[in-house]
Amino acid sequence: CGIVGYIGKRSSQQILVEGLKKLEYRGYDSAGVAVHTGEGLHISKAKGRIRELENKLELQPLEGFAGIGHTRWATHGKPSDENSHPHADQSMKISVVHNGIIENHMQLKEELEQLGYNFLSETDTEVISHLIAHYYQNDLVKAVQKAVSRIKGAFAIAVLSEHEPDKLIAVRWASPLIIGVGEGENFIGSDIPAILEHTRDVYILSDGEMAVLTRDKVELMTLEGNFIAKQLLRIDWDVMRAEKDGYDHFMQKEIAEQPRAYRDTMLGRIDKETKGVVLPELNMTLEDIHQIQQIQMVACGTAYHAALVGKAVIERMTRIPVEIDVASEYRYRQPVIRENTLVIAVSQSGETADTLAAMREAKLCGARVMAVTNVVGSSVAREADDVLYTMAGPEIAVASTKAYTSQLIALYLFAIYVSQSLNTMDAMTRMELLSTMEKLPEQVEGMLEDTRTIQRIAGELADRNHLFFIGRGLDYMVAMEASLKLKEISYIHSEAYAAGELKHGSLALIEDGTPVIAIATQEALLEKTISNIKEVKARGAYVIGVALEGNMEMAKTADEVIYIPRTDALLTSTLSVVPLQLLAYYAALARGNDVDKPRNLAKSVTVE
Ligand code: G6P
Repeated sequence: CGIVGYIGKRSSQQILVEGLKKLEYRGYDSAGVAVHTGEGLHISKAKGRIRELENKLELQPLEGFAGIGHTRWATHGKPSDENSHPHADQSMKISVVHNGIIENHMQLKEELEQLGYNFLSETDTEVISHLIAHYYQNDLVKAVQKAVSRIKGAFAIAVLSEHEPDKLIAVRWASPLIIGVGEGENFIGSDIPAILEHTRDVYILSDGEMAVLTRDKVELMTLEGNFIAKQLLRIDWDVMRAEKDGYDHFMQKEIAEQPRAYRDTMLGRIDKETKGVVLPELNMTLEDIHQIQQIQMVACGTAYHAALVGKAVIERMTRIPVEIDVASEYRYRQPVIRENTLVIAVSQSGETADTLAAMREAKLCGARVMAVTNVVGSSVAREADDVLYTMAGPEIAVASTKAYTSQLIALYLFAIYVSQSLNTMDAMTRMELLSTMEKLPEQVEGMLEDTRTIQRIAGELADRNHLFFIGRGLDYMVAMEASLKLKEISYIHSEAYAAGELKHGSLALIEDGTPVIAIATQEALLEKTISNIKEVKARGAYVIGVALEGNMEMAKTADEVIYIPRTDALLTSTLSVVPLQLLAYYAALARGNDVDKPRNLAKSVTVE
């Protein structure tokens, strides 16, 4: 979900709605705003996209200089007008927007109902507004503090009340929240893009902190009411970078940004003189690296697929055993965490609840935790012992592209870094690998120049209901990511198989014309993959091969071939995934889907 808040001299409605639009990628099943108007507190909310809310506001504008807004992704209660935020207390004097989950809301609801409070929605959020009303005794800050002390769970909250309309209150506990500082106006946002248009000076609240905003002042304090001083951060992203740059979709723009993302992620990390990797941002010492006995990786979704590649390359380059889990499984399987275990959490947003929970579990068991994340100051980054940032820049499309490939680059760099520290790779091989890596951005640029073949193939696949991806080794991992990409945005059902495994059951599903996308960039495994392609062809499959330039064998075997430039066998994943991202994109377009905001999905999932 997304939160925005404004207090100042300008009319708040427009600023709130514009801010919500920037946050729509965080949740978009309903939206709403509360504004303090001349006639008291007024709330307007609507199920559906922000456009619906705008329509309502056009008919009945809310004029006022202070307001809060919310865009929702349902967790408690279905998407509906009633369940949309802001929620208010019975007297309509206190309004609240909230991200996260109140774990003890059932108990609180019962308690409040016994006290005579009526609930209008099925949300957990509504308990907060009633609690604040319950505790209000001429001091809004105190009432919020008391209310918050009663709730358990994860939350970021913004409060606007008719009792004290000259202030907004923001509280953070395990769900991100920032305060934007302007001149004669101040802002609340769950993410930077929400307020970037108005100010670049922000405070990032930490868990257990709150802010009281008036037009001219921002006071920061703990939930106990102790004032705190915090550094004001200057955000140097440009507005354009957080917007579409003239592309039709964020996803398309983000695919196109990959050459830059690769360069930025490598920037300053490859030493020209020593021809080695330098990662000064890591706190781990050479000695720490020598002590690592095992590595465990945790992540979700696309980040998990990047971690799979990471596992393979770290093991191959360093010979340290690497285990990997989807984060939601790791925490509950009682993982064996021996002494000197490094846990690597990979997360674009750095806010994914499952990943955070897994990482906390690992820390509790004594592991050292390294985060690979795209968001500076995110929860994952703040809680890790070491942070390796991917430099992809803000990613808006729900389907991750440049964040995934930047994660690959960061993990390659880390693997090389460890191998050079442990001497598990000879210097010559390392130097060659690094100079090959430096060519990747240009190679991606080349691939993006002409996408007509991919568009044509996407057009042919667009009316299919099922397809398969197959590959061996790193190609299998890319197949998993390519399959997820296609499912996410085109809604075509697909499955990724290790090419050698298909015959052990799922081959039964291959019929005349079933599309099979076969990725075969691993020359050492080529012959075997080609045999697997022949197996599916013999059952009537329509095969699209993804192969290295000049691979004649593939041209002879497959119905269509997408060629990618030659590179080191360990690095092909950074290239082969690109045409497959485009394939998903064009297939989704051909089906008329909302590419950037696929149904049922959210960019950042902050619930377990
Ligand atoms: C959500 C998104 C996915 C993403 C996953 C992990 O499910 O829809 O695209 O891969 O979360 O997100 P993270 O921010 O931790 O990488």
